[in-house]
Amino acid sequence: LEKGPGKKNEFEYVSYPILKVFPEQSLPGDLYLFLNGHFVKYKTKDDNISQQKFELFVLQKVQYVFVTKQDAPAYKSWSDRLSGQVKEELITGVGQENVGVVEQHLEVRDEYLSFVSKEVTEESVKEVLTKTRNFIQTIKEKHNADKFTAKLLSYSQHVADHSTNVANLSVFLALNTGYSQQLILENIYLGGLLHDFGKTKIDPKVLEEPQTSKKYQTAIRKHPELGKTSLLLDSGFSEEVLRIVGEHHERQDGTGYPKGIKGSKIYDLTKIISIANVFDNLVMASQGEIKGRQIKAFRVLESDQGKMFDPKILGKCLRSMERVII
Ligand SMILES: [Fe+2]
Ligand SMILES: [Fe+2]
Repeated sequence: LEKGPGKKNEFEYVSYPILKVFPEQSLPGDLYLFLNGHFVKYKTKDDNISQQKFELFVLQKVQYVFVTKQDAPAYKSWSDRLSGQVKEELITGVGQENVGVVEQHLEVRDEYLSFVSKEVTEESVKEVLTKTRNFIQTIKEKHNADKFTAKLLSYSQHVADHSTNVANLSVFLALNTGYSQQLILENIYLGGLLHDFGKTKIDPKVLEEPQTSKKYQTAIRKHPELGKTSLLLDSGFSEEVLRIVGEHHERQDGTGYPKGIKGSKIYDLTKIISIANVFDNLVMASQGEIKGRQIKAFRVLESDQGKMFDPKILGKCLRSMERVII
């Protein structure tokens, strides 16, 4: 870290929400952190914040960074422009007449980010539930509802995108495997959105360790249970959602974690979320054009042979993905 301005009051600083910072994008002005009672320059104009660092800030519940009063307008138009771009891309996918779907999707996405960056309260749970309900209601009213959710996927390595991708993809798969009730779809969406919530409860320092290290592996295996228990404390979430969170790494053949349950012991809705989760992880982990990455991920799922997934459910999911996503 660079030392901040020496003279007191050389600049006036204003707070800027971390959630309005776009990682991997060149910053419109210097950025400061408030550490031990001092403003410390963290990034210089035109630098950027890496994805990984950004996520650590969110997970460490850093809510604000600071900019000089002079740079504040530039920061505002910077984040307006970038969030506008994200919105435009999504609108292109679903069509101008469905701008409302995109807006509601982005509302849940923002809500999710603010949910993980604050302490969980009755209030914040209520917000997530309401936004989810509204989103599912809107989706359900659409003709070809499943296609909308399939078009709201975005691949950015961002924790919020993984969560909303899994949520949307799970709803897409659920609609195609015979579920259509509002409440069930809400549970599926929430299960997808919150499946990795337990990761936000792991010491961020451990998450910075190499993924192959013992320390990392041990910590990461706890995230389903951690997610379930920490969401349970502040309930408001249904038992179904908690079950999905706790079970999403179980496998059909019993080699998953934390409990190693298999087959029919795994909740049917969890099975859908697991497929969506693995698909999104595979797509994010590979390189190149999005279509090619999706096809590669699809092939991996296709070759599963009852190890990770319930073959019956997987078969239906693959058929629907074949039609719309890949
Ligand atoms: Fe997970
Ligand atoms: Fe995940």
